[in-house]
Amino acid sequence: MRPEVRGLDALAPDTQFDQAATHVTTFRIGGPAWAVTRAHTPEQLRDVLRFLAERSVPYRMVGKGSNLLFPDEGYPGVLLLLGDGFSELTYGENGLFTAGAGMSLPRMANLIARAGIAGLEFSAQIPGSVGGSVAVNAGAFAQDLHSKLIGVRAVTRMGEEIALPAAALRGAYRSTALKGRQDFILTEATFRGESADARDVQRKQKEYGLYREKTQPLKMASAGCVFKNPGKGCSAGALIDQLGLKGHSVGDAQVSEKHANFIVNTGHARAVDVLELIAQVQAKAMAEVGIQLETEIELVTAGQLAMAA
Ligand code: EPU
Repeated sequence: MRPEVRGLDALAPDTQFDQAATHVTTFRIGGPAWAVTRAHTPEQLRDVLRFLAERSVPYRMVGKGSNLLFPDEGYPGVLLLLGDGFSELTYGENGLFTAGAGMSLPRMANLIARAGIAGLEFSAQIPGSVGGSVAVNAGAFAQDLHSKLIGVRAVTRMGEEIALPAAALRGAYRSTALKGRQDFILTEATFRGESADARDVQRKQKEYGLYREKTQPLKMASAGCVFKNPGKGCSAGALIDQLGLKGHSVGDAQVSEKHANFIVNTGHARAVDVLELIAQVQAKAMAEVGIQLETEIELVTAGQLAMAA
């Protein structure tokens, strides 16, 4: 165990030292972190953040780990997750509701559907946490979370609680002012949907779900869509498919046969395999059609690690 994190488990008992990022990411890729800590209450989160700040230990909020690629060398710091105390859902008037940042987005979508709140059906199959999904402005079917977001609550590096209106997060297509930043850990998010018949909301959710099952490799380890759509109605998946790259692989990292904007881990893919595959796809898209494909997933690179350290 690294001396910097000795004693962390006294503040947050749900701590595993020297744990690999493979255990906390949907890609199942990434070397060991000094510790993986799940804060179950706001007090634990505050205590952990202060502990890490006092010792200058880098940390990274992981959420459900569904949009992240960690390096094979590991993460020199602590990976943070949110537990039970961040999974509440409370309702206000006229379609207003507040969800804990640790809750899974599909669970939130299913609960509000049952309560007859429409407008977020698109989110029911996005495998992220509420906090992580708000931080990256997750979306699907040409809709995104920020279109319904009213505001968030967060804690700062020093464990101070703050509230921010949605506008302060500057949500845009698959991005926000918070993406990749760790100085605000979201603890809850408030949205406004529209009142509707619960059966209609559930029917729409189901339609979206069936489309995704048919078109995306949901049963394989991946981080969802790797690239942003390049705009003007162009789908990165369709483009990569047209470039003939479906099935192309580097090591165990493979451009999905089902949806070309997914890279799947077919066994023991390493981060370097994924990065090499990303570079090859980008090079081919640039060489053949002059399009610069930008990554949508967050790459925790060696450079970022050096900055954090
Ligand atoms: N297509 C192909 N080949 C492929 C993939 C897609 O020809 O390999 C075609 C499809 O047949 C369709 C068109 O491209 O005609 C668009 O495909 P799709 O409906 O799958 O939408 P997308 O633009 O590729 C976006 C989001 C997904 C989201 C889906 C469904 C981005 C980068 N991707 O994909 O989001 O689930 O719409 O709404 O915005 C994610 O963000 O992780 C993600 C997967």
